Formats: sequence, C-alpha cells, structure tokens
Amino acid sequence: MSVSRRSFLRLAGGLGLVGATAGLHLVDLGPRPQTGSLLRSGRPLPRPFAVPLPVPAVARPAESTGDVDRYEIVQREADAEILPGTTTRVWGYDGTFPGPTIRARRGRPVEVRFRNELAVPTAVHLHGGHTPADSDGYPTDLVLPAGARAGRAGHGEHRDHGGEVVTGRRDHRYPLDQRAATLWYHDHAMDVTGPHVYRGLAGFFLVGDDEDDALGLPGDERELPLMIADRAFDGDGAFLYPALSPDERPPGVEERFMAGVLGDVVLVNGAPWPGHEVARTTYRLRLLNASNARRYELALEADGDAGTRPLAFSQVGTDGGLLEAPRRRATVTLAPAERADVVVDFAAVPTGTRVVLANRLGRGSTARVMAFDVVRDGLDDAAVPERLGEVERLDPTEAVTTRTFAFQLQRDPGAESGVGADDTGLGPHRWMVSGRPFSPDHDHATPRLGDVEVWRFLTDLHHPVHVHLDHFQVLARNGRDPGPGDHGWKDTVDLLPGETCEVAVRFTDHAGRYVFHCHNLEHEDMAMMANFSVS
Ligand code: C2O
Ligand code: CU
Ligand code: CU
Repeated sequence: MSVSRRSFLRLAGGLGLVGATAGLHLVDLGPRPQTGSLLRSGRPLPRPFAVPLPVPAVARPAESTGDVDRYEIVQREADAEILPGTTTRVWGYDGTFPGPTIRARRGRPVEVRFRNELAVPTAVHLHGGHTPADSDGYPTDLVLPAGARAGRAGHGEHRDHGGEVVTGRRDHRYPLDQRAATLWYHDHAMDVTGPHVYRGLAGFFLVGDDEDDALGLPGDERELPLMIADRAFDGDGAFLYPALSPDERPPGVEERFMAGVLGDVVLVNGAPWPGHEVARTTYRLRLLNASNARRYELALEADGDAGTRPLAFSQVGTDGGLLEAPRRRATVTLAPAERADVVVDFAAVPTGTRVVLANRLGRGSTARVMAFDVVRDGLDDAAVPERLGEVERLDPTEAVTTRTFAFQLQRDPGAESGVGADDTGLGPHRWMVSGRPFSPDHDHATPRLGDVEVWRFLTDLHHPVHVHLDHFQVLARNGRDPGPGDHGWKDTVDLLPGETCEVAVRFTDHAGRYVFHCHNLEHEDMAMMANFSVS
C-alpha cells in the first residue's frame, strides 16, 4: 500500500473528516463544490467560445412499423476533432460523442439493437427509462465484443452473478410508457462505467408527448439538448483518464482519483466551451450533466455595453419531465446525471450581447461552460405557460415501509476473509451502500410492484443518488423542505456531504432486478451501487 493510499484512508476513514487534504483533493477547497480530484490536461487549452456548438444528429429508425420504431446503433471507436487541430480517439455510439439523439413518443415502443464493435464488454442503460429488467442494461448483462469467444470476456467472474452475457449485440426494448422527458443512454458495464462514459459512450434520448406539445415551448432550432461533461486531454489530444490499466484488468482508477475524476476542459455536446448564435427570442435548453464527478451551478451572464448582468432561467422540466409550473431560477445546480429543462429569453438583451453560461462552482477554465451570441431579432414568442404538466403526488402516508441507505466510504467487511477482495486494486476500503460493496448477489431492497415506499438516503461526502426503473419525489432534505432542484419527478438527487434526504417511490409494471447507485461514476465503479428486486 502506498503512502498516498494510506493517507487517503486515514483521512477518509474517519468520515467526519471531509475537508483537510494534504495533496489529496477529496473535496475542492473554497466552496467545496464536489468530491473528486482535478486532472490537468497536458496541452494548452483552446480559446473559449471559438468552436461552434455541435448538435448531435437525430437517429433515424432502421425500420418503423405500426407499433414500434427499430434502431440499430454500433458502439465503435472513431477519431473526433474535439480540440481544434488535434484528434481524439472516442468510443462512441455510431462512433460519435455524444451519440445520436433518439427521439421517441410516449406510448410508442422503441427497440434498439446495440452492436458492440469495441474491444471491451459493454452494457447500455437508458437513464430515466421505465424499462423491463432484461433491457435495462444491468451491469453484468454484458455484450462481449463482436467476434469475442465466450470465456474471454475479461470479466469472466461476472457470469457467476446471473448476468446474461451475449456476444456482439443485444436488442433492448423500451416500452416508453412514461411522461415526456429528457433521458439519456450511456454505458453501465460493471466496474468500468466511468472510463466508458468518459471516452464517449453517452447520448440523448428525448421522449415527447401530447402534454408537452400542447405547451408550445420553443422547438426545432430553438430546442437545444446540451450535454455538459468535463474532460482532460494528454499532450496528443487523447482523453486522459487515470485508469489503473489500459485493458481494464484490473478496473479502477489511480488512488488519487478514487473520489472522482474532474477534468479542466468543459465540453458541451463534445465541443470545448462552444459558442452558439441565437436570435432575440426564447430557447428551450435541455441541460444534462454527463460528467463523471463534476457538479455545476449554472448561471447566465449577459455581457453588454452596460456591463455584466444576470439572465434568469425559467425551469420547466426536470429528470422525469415537466414541472407543474415554471420555476424562475437565477442558477441551476446539476450533479452528475441530473437534467434541467429550462427556457431562456434572449429577447431580454440587445442584439450584439454575448450571454455566457457560467459555472459558479468552477475555478479558472471550469468557471464557464459555453456562450450564446445574440446576433439577430427573433419572433416575439408566447410566454411560458403558467401551468405545465400534471404531477401526481405520491402520498408518503401510504408508504408500506421506510428504508434507509447510507452512501459512505467504509472498510470492506469481506476484505479480511478475502471475500470480495480485491481484483479492483482498491484495497479494503470502498464506496459502499449501507456498509456493503456492490454485489449482484445481494438485494438491498425487495419492493412490491405498486407499493409506495419511502427511501431515506444518508451521505458522508457528495453523492448524487440515482434509482433505476421509476422516478421518485423528494419529500424532505435534512428534515426540511426539498431544495430548489428537488421538485417534480426525479431519478437522481444531489446530496451534499452529511445530508439526509427522503424520497417517495413506487415501482410499477416491471418486476425483476435493478440497481440504484451513486452517479459519481468513480464511486459507482468502486462499488457504491446496490440491487433491488421488484416482485
Ligand atoms: Cu445513469 Cu445506473 O445510471
Ligand atoms: Cu439509470
Ligand atoms: Cu458518490
């Protein structure tokens, strides 16, 4: 065990000790916005706002019948020009980062055949999808590379955990019997989700419905999905990720990064600090934080002749779709995997204004995200309606049970006996849920279909907690009212160090085995994940 690991463990082992770190940035100093360590790029960073904002292509179905749209998406490597003048090898859906956007409608099923032409096993998860268990991308339901022989998975032991391992491709069926919402699909392979997503395996999946259409919110080129993700690059422009080994054997990151990997370049839709020209009218921005570990507090700063002034967001939707009513917000904080659907009115500023999407939790290069240049007049657009979506309230007094889950770094109880140790190289401490590292063989909860339950989450450090299968509603945070980002239907809740949060959840329609986990992907890979089995 190296000195730095020991000092990490001494510091973190107390769990009360969240701040002080000698060379170990468990929590950034200053505002302490996140848990993780900064990885610096090995080359000069590009000028901000110089690259145009890419908008991911919308996938076209290979086949559409009366009742289903079928897609085929290939996971493969490709070279992308992310930093001007260099190429970056990405692992992309259809070779692109972000992957193609799938546009779907509530109630109209989508089937996607995901082929794996990478060199490593993958699993695809539709985040926020109300999806049958066998299509949910369970972490050991691996797809081995096309052409791989079974038994050479590199993750052979997982086959013992009831994973359904296939070779070359898997067909996922998404019934999409769910509200309109900004969903996303991304890799979910056990122990290696962090590096896989970091290298590019993430895309938007947008569900529409009549309720959303009826509101007349900005559409077409005035509806922008924005995938925000930080990265670091090496001297040649390749993604820099502190993996223990290039072939993922063993998986895991260098111990200095076990609290999370933070990059110094902020990408939006795969471009560094892009710029985008807009008209003086309203835009709908579908904001997604697809970063491994970084949190953002987003703000709009209009830079005009009269100096800098803020522009507000009107939040219309969250992880699980429309809010009941718009919420005016000066800033929007997003932890990894959270989404916010916002309307911004650029008519509030004169033509010629640059509106910077800033990150109040960032320092230096990470203090800004992208810019909108207001270059022309636009239509006088209808205001955002006062009433948005119907949000059914789950009634916590009907809850059949309250379950408590602690998201904490702990000593692995199995380590001494050698159980569960230690192909990850992480040593006997891991990120855990209620004292256990992830095991496909253990259920942390066994809810019944249709029951309302209260789940209480406790944290030591920052942990964005995500639950598969159904969205939930935040009832309370630290015994008080939910926070500004907690309204509506959520699937990921941003918990700060030492917080407690209660949510009401009701699992419906699909029985089977699912996971819930921390969406800091380094924590997730280092075992901060748990099963629940619905019956
Ligand atoms: Cu976004 Cu279990 O994942
Ligand atoms: Cu998910
Ligand atoms: Cu975490």
